[in-house]
Amino acid sequence: MRVCSIVGARPQFIKAAVVSTELREVGEEVLVHTGQHYDEEMSDVFFDELGIPEPDYNLGVKSGPHGRQTAKMIAEIEPVVEETDPDVVLLYGDTNSTLAGAIVGSKCDVVVAHVEAGLRSYNREMPEEINRVLTDHASDLCFAPSENAVETLAEEGITDGVYLTGDVMYDSVLAVRDRVTDSSTVLEELGVREDECILATVHRQRNTDDRANLESILDGLEAASQPVVFPAHPRTVDRLEEYGLRDRAEAVVDLVEPLGYLDFVRLMDAAERIVTDSGGVQKEAFFLETPCVTLREETEWTETVDCGWNELVGTDTDAIRDALAKDEWPDDTPNPYGDGEASRRIAELVAEHVADSGAGTEAELESTADD
Ligand code: UD1
Ligand code: UDP
Repeated sequence: MRVCSIVGARPQFIKAAVVSTELREVGEEVLVHTGQHYDEEMSDVFFDELGIPEPDYNLGVKSGPHGRQTAKMIAEIEPVVEETDPDVVLLYGDTNSTLAGAIVGSKCDVVVAHVEAGLRSYNREMPEEINRVLTDHASDLCFAPSENAVETLAEEGITDGVYLTGDVMYDSVLAVRDRVTDSSTVLEELGVREDECILATVHRQRNTDDRANLESILDGLEAASQPVVFPAHPRTVDRLEEYGLRDRAEAVVDLVEPLGYLDFVRLMDAAERIVTDSGGVQKEAFFLETPCVTLREETEWTETVDCGWNELVGTDTDAIRDALAKDEWPDDTPNPYGDGEASRRIAELVAEHVADSGAGTEAELESTADD
């Protein structure tokens, strides 16, 4: 069995790290990096520290307007799929790299498999929402992280090839959480103490590319009674500079470069609370039982809100201030995202699907013929 895994953005490297290990136990993987993220601290750091194999192809697509960026990826991924002739194209999440892979996989008549299927924010203004919907509908195999995700797919008529696997980010957090408590020195490096700092990240287009929203978030963070560490996505740094808000940001938060995953998990675990508009970080905060304030009006990770660990506040300054002042959190945490074995399950399901469909690499078919 040969699987072509397509990644391109920071959260996809983290998800692929755990899934690739399992996939390589059951078959061959061709790893394709679209190049959507390319700065050292947005890309290489994750390959290095998580031991992700060097990509077989780096397409170097880089940044650009959504349509052109996605089109360039499609044009670059297609010849790779033709050349490597995979049984399955495996995709993660909801980025432009995900959508480009889904389009190529389906056009080339290869089985398309989607990790993190069935998530919806129901906000069609988010580029990610369109990417998720289209990718799920183009996929032959949908790996859903939660029961809600399975139900959402069913509501849209997608029932064949749907598997409740659990969430691969949970696997990932479990794999590193204890290790980083001893090994990471990020708290000392940043001069903050356990339970006495707030971790904030902002990168969502609606929040960064609108001066008023960005300023309103900074005003809200100013009310924090603890130091705020703010590892800034390059998009956010660009906008702060463009809007003349960099000095204001530096007065309110400790603006630092994006962190590697191991330090970031340590900081999420140590933080008294997290303020974010990231999808993955909302979930990781929940896994680590760090209260989360989400700078969005809606979330696709609704379970984290329903159980009381995550509060949606949008960008309203007062709402952010109120949420920062809140100090009552649930006594217990349900576990809607699986048992930490999602990656192994996904690899096995992919392998079973390929075996059942009678496909396989030439080498495997030859060896079967020899038997
Ligand atoms: C993308 C995904 C988003 C995901 C996020 C993870 C889409 C539509 N969006 O958003 O779903 O949550 O990745 O972080 O796919 N830039 C750099 N260096 C880099 C990467 C980006 O400077 O290595 C800057 C460029 O100015 C670029 C901007 O960041 O234009 C945005 O990057 P892009 O990949 O288009 O979108 P993200 O905001 O990162
Ligand atoms: N992350 C990281 N360093 C940072 C910020 C985030 O390692 O400075 C990790 C985080 O732990 C999570 C992933 O990157 O696993 C989330 O990425 P991001 O917020 O960029 O994207 P989203 O999840 O919103 O798509």
